[in-house]
Amino acid sequence: MEKEQEKRNIEIEKELINDLKEVKKPNDLVQVKAKYLGKEGIISLLTKNMRDLKPEERASYGKLVTEIRNKALELLDDKEKKLKEELLNKKLKEETIDITLPSKKIRHGSIHPFNMIVEEIEDLFVSMGYDIIDGPELETDEYCFQRLNIPYGHPVRDTQDSFYVDKDYLLRTQTSSVQAHTMEQNIDKGPIRMICPGKTYRRDDDATHSHQFGQFEGLVIDKGITLADLKGTLLVMARKLLGEKTNVRFRPSFFPFTEPSVEVDVTCFKCNGKGCSLCKNTGWIELLGAGMVHPNVLRDNGYDPNKYTGFAFGTGIDRLAMMKYSIPDIRLMYTNDYRFLNEFMRKDVK
Ligand code: PHE
Repeated sequence: MEKEQEKRNIEIEKELINDLKEVKKPNDLVQVKAKYLGKEGIISLLTKNMRDLKPEERASYGKLVTEIRNKALELLDDKEKKLKEELLNKKLKEETIDITLPSKKIRHGSIHPFNMIVEEIEDLFVSMGYDIIDGPELETDEYCFQRLNIPYGHPVRDTQDSFYVDKDYLLRTQTSSVQAHTMEQNIDKGPIRMICPGKTYRRDDDATHSHQFGQFEGLVIDKGITLADLKGTLLVMARKLLGEKTNVRFRPSFFPFTEPSVEVDVTCFKCNGKGCSLCKNTGWIELLGAGMVHPNVLRDNGYDPNKYTGFAFGTGIDRLAMMKYSIPDIRLMYTNDYRFLNEFMRKDVK
């Protein structure tokens, strides 16, 4: 009897192992468990057989039945754990986020070359103690012309050049109008040191002139200001913006609101002054107009020309940007062509 049951145990174990091999889901395990350990299960029936045994056989038989029951429980338990683990691994695998995948490229904007120059100019002049002043783009005849020693009938008022909005208002043709506003607002407060970057408008349209362009004006008024102060200031500006080897030279010129007036040239940045096609072999490039503030302008805006002197200068921002970044056509500055703007994208930002 004992021998027989030992053999039977081995068979049951084998059969169970085979059955378990077929089980793929924890739910299917229930059926296998029932087949062996359920009320009518193979192992449960073995216990019922006990009744028919002789008392002396019962102990060893019972031990064998317990053994196979424990074995079955162990195998079922192992299988259940294994299935659960497999299921978890499968789930983890399916739900994995691959953080090594390259992300979507975010496009960064870039600073427009116009604003790059303005920021650079503002930083430079603020570091020298200047104020940054804003003025109206829609201007009156008085501030754009009369207060700048440009009376009615003066040729620079040419209506071919100016955009008049109605008979009283025009779009400012130069940021020099802000000189008049600043002086007027500053009377009795003494010295002035300001720059004024902004938009200006003229009826122009070709590769080097646009109907809208940027200018920035500089104005310094104090006691004892001379042309040497102007030259020193412009030399610092030219070197900072265009390179430390740049020089400046003054040529006599005429503006109604400055006396004397000068045209200011800088060393050609393309040939470093040696002479090339850009500078027409002169070694110099015209940069801006400047001069000592005309006594009439000082007086008309509330400053006593016997006490105060001053200098002013004005230059095209686009012109500066074109020089600094070798931009061939001023219209590129206003048409927002993506290929052009892309040139100014910071290369260190991916
Ligand atoms: N406003 C002048 C221009 O537009 C430039 C300038 C400004 C000249 C200040 C002298 C002093 O050409």
